[in-house]
Amino acid sequence: MTGHAAHMSRYDDLGGDAVLEPLLADFYGRIAGSAIASLFPPTMDETRAKQAAFQSEFWGGPARYSPWRGHPRLRARHLPFPIGPAEAREWLRCMREAVAASAMPEQQRPMFLMQMERTAAAMINRGEEGDTGELRL
Ligand code: HEM
Repeated sequence: MTGHAAHMSRYDDLGGDAVLEPLLADFYGRIAGSAIASLFPPTMDETRAKQAAFQSEFWGGPARYSPWRGHPRLRARHLPFPIGPAEAREWLRCMREAVAASAMPEQQRPMFLMQMERTAAAMINRGEEGDTGELRL
């Protein structure tokens, strides 16, 4: 262990539910007012619940996603939605703003956002730039 108690997960390091739940509520509020709002259902309570369950499981917290939704298959689940570089950038803008406004510990933020950037880049399923590693998000 590197200075953490053995029971602590990366999800706990991020602040756990106390940080992620309000962060994601803020995030989907920003999405609702963003250029990509029309991709999402009019009411995003369920979208937010899926994302919260995913984040918890992804960061080693309680496994709330796969018992509910099965294997994430995130890229496949995003294929019905036209996601080009501009859409990924807009998603990330909302996420960066939500993280900045959140109570997530400062030292965790770059690591969290880097993972979101990598995942967002992997969701790009159309657009002239293709799926190279050269996207500037
Ligand atoms: C790149 C830009 C992205 C766009 C435009 C986008 C858009 C969407 C849309 C429209 C949905 C469907 C919402 C619903 O059915 O309620 C969705 C679902 C979801 N997205 Fe994204 N997304 C993006 C990136 C990401 C990233 C980076 C992650 C993870 C870090 C993510 C995780 C999820 C999850 C977990 C779901 C729910 C899947 C399910 O169980 O049905 N998305 N996304």
